[in-house]
Amino acid sequence: MSLLVTRIGELVTNDPTHGGPLGIIPDAALVAEHGRVTWLGPATKAPAADRVVDAHGAAAIPGFVDSHAHLVFAGDRSAEFAARMSGQPYTGGGIRTTVAATRAASDDDLRATTRRLAAEAHRQGTTTVEIKSGYGLTVEDEARSLRVAAEFTKETTFLGAHVVPAEYDGRTDEYVELVRGAMLSAAAPYARWVDVFCERGAFDADQARTVLAAGMAAGLLPRVHANQLTAGPGVALAVELGAASADHCTHLSTKDVDALAGSATVATLLPGAEFSTRSPYPDARRLLDAGVRVALATDCNPGSSFTSSMPFCVALAVREMRMTPAEALWSATAGGAMALRRTDVGHLRVGARADLAILAAPTYLYLAYRPGVPLVRTVLLNGEPIT
Ligand code: NIG
Ligand code: FE
Repeated sequence: MSLLVTRIGELVTNDPTHGGPLGIIPDAALVAEHGRVTWLGPATKAPAADRVVDAHGAAAIPGFVDSHAHLVFAGDRSAEFAARMSGQPYTGGGIRTTVAATRAASDDDLRATTRRLAAEAHRQGTTTVEIKSGYGLTVEDEARSLRVAAEFTKETTFLGAHVVPAEYDGRTDEYVELVRGAMLSAAAPYARWVDVFCERGAFDADQARTVLAAGMAAGLLPRVHANQLTAGPGVALAVELGAASADHCTHLSTKDVDALAGSATVATLLPGAEFSTRSPYPDARRLLDAGVRVALATDCNPGSSFTSSMPFCVALAVREMRMTPAEALWSATAGGAMALRRTDVGHLRVGARADLAILAAPTYLYLAYRPGVPLVRTVLLNGEPIT
């Protein structure tokens, strides 16, 4: 069954052969069949198809690739947010509150929350989402978090080294042994990626390296929560290990920027976290001007960034991090795909997954120009309309 999307006023392809980094085709159409893009070009030349979606002149973009989200959890930390807005700093200490609630939750409760947040993201144009564990922090709770995550995405990440849980207080090295041993063995069947929160108060470079190396030996690919609260060793470690992505990158030394620029590691910026923790935003311009590949993601989690909205992150990136609207959209689509080492999403070319969002707007510029407005009208996931 083929589907024709026609009368697209502005089709963003991320294919530079159509001109500019976003590869925009005006007055375009696109055909999807068996979940893939089979044709795209000027609407006047579009072939016939079994079904037709009329975009009525609106813009269409590749579906957002949210390469960093923590959707498997229980509980609420709105009081912690309110305290921050009254001047309390964010330290990551609240993670243990979510760990306690997550351990106490049933599988069905965790599944329902993950389903609700994934659906919320889809409605806002996200068609690929990465989901981490990291609020279980026991062998069984990490494995079940990933089992639940795997019901919603292929991009699952084992984050047993998120923080040291209370029962291991003062025994971080013993906890690292557990993570790289029994916990990894139980989690690996459900995970594609391994991640560590490499930060003061969480795991230092040696501990993070130990966990990531064990994950890699088990066949997982590395990514790192790096340099969120301090200019620590996370980015250097990510580059050293050839990680697909160093995430946060809020506090960077010149060495860090140079290392990222000379590597295949993507810098994934998470401006929702700075917004919700009232912290200084990462210096996106410095990274882009140095030639670093930049992705944007939500970091959706109940503590530091409780948003599933990629359009909101695009607007923040433009207004607060001085990315151009084109850079921000590229980073939220093609950049996210790169951060997940995916070549089938984040762009619209023949053969790509037919994942796209039709906007309630004549141009993608509206994503930043009209912040906070529901701008995604229709989402096609694998060639099927879902909204
Ligand atoms: O990416 N930094 C570590 N992890 C999450 C925050 C988790 C939380 O506060 O619950 C993050 O911001
Ligand atoms: Fe995170």
